[in-house]
Amino acid sequence: SIIEIIGAPIEIGTSEPGAVMGPAALRTAGLVRVLQELGLTVRDGGDLAPGCAPGQRDLPAIRAWMTEISHAVEKALDGASLPVVAGGDHSLSLGSIDGALRHCGRTSRPLFVLWLDAHADFNTLETSPSGNVHGMPLAALCGEPGFDKLFDGGPRPRLDPRRVHLFGLRSIDAGERAIVTQRQVNVVDMRTIDEFGVVAPLRRILDRVAAENGHLHASFDVDFLDPTIAPGVGTTVPGGATFREAHLIMEMLCDSGLVGSLDVVELNPFLDERGRSARVLVELVASLFGRRIIDRPTNVPPLE
Ligand code: ARG
Ligand code: MN
Ligand code: MN
Ligand code: MN
Repeated sequence: SIIEIIGAPIEIGTSEPGAVMGPAALRTAGLVRVLQELGLTVRDGGDLAPGCAPGQRDLPAIRAWMTEISHAVEKALDGASLPVVAGGDHSLSLGSIDGALRHCGRTSRPLFVLWLDAHADFNTLETSPSGNVHGMPLAALCGEPGFDKLFDGGPRPRLDPRRVHLFGLRSIDAGERAIVTQRQVNVVDMRTIDEFGVVAPLRRILDRVAAENGHLHASFDVDFLDPTIAPGVGTTVPGGATFREAHLIMEMLCDSGLVGSLDVVELNPFLDERGRSARVLVELVASLFGRRIIDRPTNVPPLE
């Protein structure tokens, strides 16, 4: 299918300026080119611009952005394209997942979310220690109270917390931790990855999505990666995914054929070192969309 790049240059959800430059840095690092080189058809519609001033960070601005992002993602999916939302801080997933939910509701497929992130992003306005909206999108999407004003009026689809899979978690606030447990959110934390690697836990998730014929939305926060390979993010946490783990995850996602929409979020070029993080991200996206070292040989039986 056609890949549609949707730029969402926002930093409404974070107190660290710079994420607004994320989409430009991803393009500079070759986001469109690497996908074209894989033989894919890419449409880059540029950056969304809902008409609020660049620095506007109030509730109406958030609402305008989320509505715009949601519509763009929904429209891409309705047109059988695969939307890649280039951020921008993680609050943009409020919009992208809302759009995916609307599309899935119409096609009666369950939506699963793979949240590749050091954080749970499950704070509510009450539990958030920072007040930053990028730490809240999953709580808002899953219908925790207090978020009504973030969205335009009218009915809005809910994300089922039991279809959310946090992956790579290693930093969680006390309040959101209680919610994650209570709502039965699925968690593959760093301890699990240390014990079992990424393959077994990810395979379980993919098997589940496949068994239910689900649409998988992958949301990739740069801080999922270890800061030594991706320093360009405002909320680094030590002990993240390695280069090889991250590529393996992308390759497995590619082989599964299940990913129907993707966010690439939290890249902060102002904090990056000579474009390193942007380049790693583009390489990872390439792996997700089919770049491989070599085709697997067919003359010997598979390893498992
Ligand atoms: N849990 C912290 C907070 O609520 C950090 C959230 C970081 N989120 C992110 N998308 N980088 O402020
Ligand atoms: Mn579809
Ligand atoms: Mn995040
Ligand atoms: Mn994070």
